[in-house]
Amino acid sequence: TISDIEIIQIPKIEDHRGNIAVIEKEVLPYEVKRVYYLYDVPSSAARGGHAHIDQQECLIALSGSFDVILDDSKKKNIVTLNKPDKGLLIPKGIWRELENFSSGAVCLVLSSDVYLEEDYIRDYQNFVELKL
Ligand code: TYD
Repeated sequence: TISDIEIIQIPKIEDHRGNIAVIEKEVLPYEVKRVYYLYDVPSSAARGGHAHIDQQECLIALSGSFDVILDDSKKKNIVTLNKPDKGLLIPKGIWRELENFSSGAVCLVLSSDVYLEEDYIRDYQNFVELKL
């Protein structure tokens, strides 16, 4: 549910020469099997618009900012991501939409599994009825 969503602090090494954020295995509650990123997203575009049956994901705004609308079919929450050292941990069974991408925004996604279309629910009504 919505209350299981977490914003995690990514361990970082701060330096006047620039910072390093490091994600080692203890940072996430799952093993990362896939990494992808959204970039060159028009400010008017909406991404996401699905839920996962099983996969968990962590979203990080590597650059710029965007909003993530989260929905467990009973409650909604909006999180703005705009810091490269914050990760939004989305458990399974949460509907998400991404919008309001700033110019140059990059959304890194760390997934708990490889790409499996069978794991997606892309119809909102279906999502509500499934009660994941
Ligand atoms: P989609 O899931 O609609 O993107 P988002 O939810 O991030 O807005 O994916 C768009 C297309 O890309 C769709 O045809 C599936 C494909 N795709 C892959 O083949 N592998 C992947 O890891 C991802 C994330 C998408």
